[in-house]
Amino acid sequence: MEDKIKSLLKNFPSELDQITDKNSLENFRIKYFGRKGIIAELFEDFKKLSGDEKPKYGKRLNEIKNDLQTKFDGKKLSVESEIETTVETIDFSLPGRKYGQGTKHILSQTMNEIMDVFIKIGFSVYEGPELESDYYNFEALNFPEDHPARDMQDTFFLSKDFVLRTHTSPVQIRLMENKKPPIRAIMPGKVYRNEAISFKSYCLFHQVEGLVVDKNITFAELKGTLVYFLKEFLGKDVKYRFRASFFPFTEPSAEVDIWWQPEGKEGRWLEILGCGMVDPNVLKNVGIDPEVYTGYAFGIGVERNALRKYDIDDIRTFFDNDKRFLVQF
Ligand code: PHE
Repeated sequence: MEDKIKSLLKNFPSELDQITDKNSLENFRIKYFGRKGIIAELFEDFKKLSGDEKPKYGKRLNEIKNDLQTKFDGKKLSVESEIETTVETIDFSLPGRKYGQGTKHILSQTMNEIMDVFIKIGFSVYEGPELESDYYNFEALNFPEDHPARDMQDTFFLSKDFVLRTHTSPVQIRLMENKKPPIRAIMPGKVYRNEAISFKSYCLFHQVEGLVVDKNITFAELKGTLVYFLKEFLGKDVKYRFRASFFPFTEPSAEVDIWWQPEGKEGRWLEILGCGMVDPNVLKNVGIDPEVYTGYAFGIGVERNALRKYDIDDIRTFFDNDKRFLVQF
């Protein structure tokens, strides 16, 4: 009896100490306090004691039992509250995880800004397909059969008769086929060219096409409108020049350059648009009488205007989708 009590008092506290979870707590309870547990066993032994030994152990066993029960209850409380605290260690006051919010791509922003300038002075917006037939991309626009722009070097041919449009000018044809003058429209979109890629050219870019057809439309009106655009979009002090040029679908034709000087680089002229008076042959192709109506057209390059406006030095950065670049706008 004495030995059993000794080992109980020795083992109980050290085993109790090692309990960390509910499972080991329950195993411990069964081992010591169960119906066939160590303490119950002691009381069984007690019953078998002789009469004169009983008083000596009776009180003691009850004290031990109560003491151990108190210790066990204390442990039980701490194990259970520890489990609760692990749940409560989630700090609900911490800020949540942040997911980056997207923004409009700088090219979409620039395109919208360009369009806004024209929408404010009465232009409507039209769109056409990026996959075009040879007829709309070239033939209706008065490109001669052997024009170099039809060459494989510049054009992505999908088949003999279909191309990825090389400019937004075919939308002029689609529009004039469907709408009689007066016409005052802009046509934004993507265009594709099989060109050598460099800091100022990419195989894909965006244009905003313009078309005005009415009676008595003059080159002076074209020039006035484009200068108005340049000043609205790039600021009153924009440095620009008109250069005589050639397009099969306009006559006379011109190109506009703007002065471009990215920070820390040498300045240079950058061509940003082509324009001209709509060629009478084009009007004939869509059934508009060139004796009655005249018109002007222009095609503005979106990327190059963005380079200049936002002081960017390489067109390829628009297409890299590098977040460090995109978040700046
Ligand atoms: N389509 C021409 C180009 O992409 C630009 C242009 C448009 C020129 C309209 C004249 C009139 O280079």
